[in-house]
Amino acid sequence: MNDPRIAFVGAGNMTRSLIGGLIADGRNPARLCVSDPDTHQLSAVASRFQVHTDTDNQRLTENCDVVVLAVKPQVMATVARALGPSVQHRQPLVISVAAGIRTADLERWLGGRCALVRCMPNTPALVQSGATALFATEGVSPPRRDLAESLLRAVGLTLWVEDEALMDAVTAVSGSGPAYFFLLIEALQEAGEALGLGRKSARLLALQTAFGAAKMALESSDDAAILRQRVTSPGGTTQAALEVLESGAMKALLQSAVTAARDRSRALAQQLGAD
Ligand SMILES: NC(=O)c1ccc[n+]([C@@H]2O[C@H](COP(=O)([O-])OP(=O)(O)OC[C@H]3O[C@@H](n4cnc5c(N)ncnc54)[C@H](OP(=O)(O)O)[C@@H]3O)[C@@H](O)[C@H]2O)c1
Repeated sequence: MNDPRIAFVGAGNMTRSLIGGLIADGRNPARLCVSDPDTHQLSAVASRFQVHTDTDNQRLTENCDVVVLAVKPQVMATVARALGPSVQHRQPLVISVAAGIRTADLERWLGGRCALVRCMPNTPALVQSGATALFATEGVSPPRRDLAESLLRAVGLTLWVEDEALMDAVTAVSGSGPAYFFLLIEALQEAGEALGLGRKSARLLALQTAFGAAKMALESSDDAAILRQRVTSPGGTTQAALEVLESGAMKALLQSAVTAARDRSRALAQQLGAD
């Protein structure tokens, strides 16, 4: 499929990020369209991206090769049930970006098996620096897998998981992950201020250090553990700090935190799928 027609259901943050990324990547806005019951949202999207819009999800998706479901998880059952007959009849590629909605539940709401890709993006997707895990059901052909991946790549890194149960671990690591790093930046900034740095300087130093460390780690073939060892001279300042973090069992604490997020993700998925 060279230039598929792509419908986005829901004109919120994720749709705007994806469309912004796709157009920046060279996709033709005339092949993208968006539906949402809120006409204010639609006119904002239409004037920003020059894409076709409609308040009616069914009408919009009828002639599309790809349907991206980008509504809140809480309304997904209603939206999917209404689209079910058309999806079953036409069999477009369906991509869900909704957190915590399992493919078995989505297929049940859509009225049966279909070519379905479930994605778990994270909020840095809003600045085209997201990390997205994808899972495809059996009905998705290799070219359609490639298509789904190319759409999500417009907002950052993508990787596939072959076991859907791992989506709860993905949610715990990269879905909730930005908040862990925000907390670390916040704490480092506060520590800098406590040691006498001005608020603005402490903030900038903490932020640029987080960015620089992530960039270095991304560009290196070495593990983070090796990079850490390399910047830790015996008896030096970094070692003094790391010893304090280790005495507070920082790794074990993070392990417990991420496990708690994974367990909460499982419980929420069960709750959302009960509809
Ligand atoms: N934002 C992120 O970084 C992020 C990260 C990971 C996953 N996700 C997932 O992406 C999905 C969308 O998130 P978002 O942040 O883009 O949410 P959002 O900004 O609230 O956008 C959802 C849009 O869907 C609209 N909508 C509500 N009912 C609808 C219906 N029946 N038909 C069509 N559109 C409808 C909403 O309109 P109203 O505002 O009028 O209700 C809103 O404009 C969610 O499932 C979320 O889990 C988002």
